[in-house]
Amino acid sequence: MDKTIVILTGAGISAESGIPTFRASDGLWCNHPIEDVATPQGYRRNPKLVHEFYNARRAQLKEVIPNAAHHAIAELAANWDGKLFLITQNVDDLHDRATQATTPKPAFRLIHMHGELRKARCEKSGSIFDWQENIDGDSHCDCCNAPGNLRPHIVWFNEMPLEMDVIDEAASSCDLFMSIGTSGNVYPAAGLVHTARTYGRAHTVELNLEPSAGESLFHEKIYGPATKTVPEYVRRILAGGVV
Ligand code: OAD
Repeated sequence: MDKTIVILTGAGISAESGIPTFRASDGLWCNHPIEDVATPQGYRRNPKLVHEFYNARRAQLKEVIPNAAHHAIAELAANWDGKLFLITQNVDDLHDRATQATTPKPAFRLIHMHGELRKARCEKSGSIFDWQENIDGDSHCDCCNAPGNLRPHIVWFNEMPLEMDVIDEAASSCDLFMSIGTSGNVYPAAGLVHTARTYGRAHTVELNLEPSAGESLFHEKIYGPATKTVPEYVRRILAGGVV
């Protein structure tokens, strides 16, 4: 029977592409208080500051490319005969670019649970647009054709992550749950390993630079840089050595 794999990724998988993580000593949350740039309340107080923060991060995407870990997962997407859910907390588009370079199987799904830098959302209509350039108070959306309604399509603290029904269903019925490059500090993402282990009876594996906050919930733990550990683990899966 075809098996289901769920892969949860975090900022650590993009670190070797040159995108800073959040909680490292020089991470993004060091110089940018969460309550200022990553909450709806911060956006109401100072939309200009919030737009500038995400504009800089969107612009940085033009400077970076997917690394060996993104490409290895894309290889898995192209070759795994069962279902594969790639659930990323990352708002960069490196998984998208890596998988677009292959031909993923039809049962592959990529879900950006915390939104996407290269999308903008109209606060009035909820419409979502591809967006490559800066957003500011003068940006117009196609739906209202008026300025001021566009915000980054990013899930902020105090907001609900996207597609949680699909994510919960996948985690609770998977055979293998992999967590890659995430510190396990932010829920509901950090709770998915528990769901996979308890309801899916999945084999759970953590691939990270160091033990995460949820380390004890993983059957298998592999510590090292993602560009080394992920390609090795994907080779093991495709050789039939995991599930
Ligand atoms: P964190 O910054 O909290 O954690 C990144 C993890 O990646 C750490 O555990 C590092 O040890 C690990 N890491 C760093 N470099 C690595 C490498 N080369 N190879 C493997 N692992 C490496 O980032 P996240 O866990 O992704 O949410 O953070 C989760 C959420 O918190 C983010 O999506 C964001 C943030 O607040 C929102 O903005 C809503």
